[in-house]
Amino acid sequence: MNVPLYEKIWMWAAGGMIAGFVAILLITSIGGALEPPSHVETIDPTQVFKDPRFAHPAVTVDEHGATVVAVGMMFAYVPAEIHVPAGKPVTFRMTSADVTHGFLIVGTNANTMLVPGYVSQFTTTFRQPGEYLIVCNEYCGLGHHLMSAKLIVEAVKP
Ligand code: CUA
Repeated sequence: MNVPLYEKIWMWAAGGMIAGFVAILLITSIGGALEPPSHVETIDPTQVFKDPRFAHPAVTVDEHGATVVAVGMMFAYVPAEIHVPAGKPVTFRMTSADVTHGFLIVGTNANTMLVPGYVSQFTTTFRQPGEYLIVCNEYCGLGHHLMSAKLIVEAVKP
């Protein structure tokens, strides 16, 4: 089959672009350690604070790391200030008491949606002690831009 030179150039250029897109997807998903939410746990969104899992949103720390139980609602997080140890796995367990909210810890790869009716859970480790901003990155109403919280990563004393 006789393919003209310009046709060949366009075919190779299109193939190269597809290979480039696939490479970008692989590099960002593996390099950025993106992990899709993996467990389905449901909750009645109207009874969040009566549910034993979320009746007392707080941080518990033991020798293995920390567990953060938090609730997002218009237009705040409970608790509003979260203290966790540096260098240890921290498991976040969160849900929404009203509409869909976001939960992004700025400067880290911790980022999830809080969807009413579901418990969002992920585990991550913060290596760098310091103060991090938590923001809602899903539009949730008139006070969306005010919805934030603070994460304090504390250095663990040897
Ligand atoms: Cu909560 Cu936007």
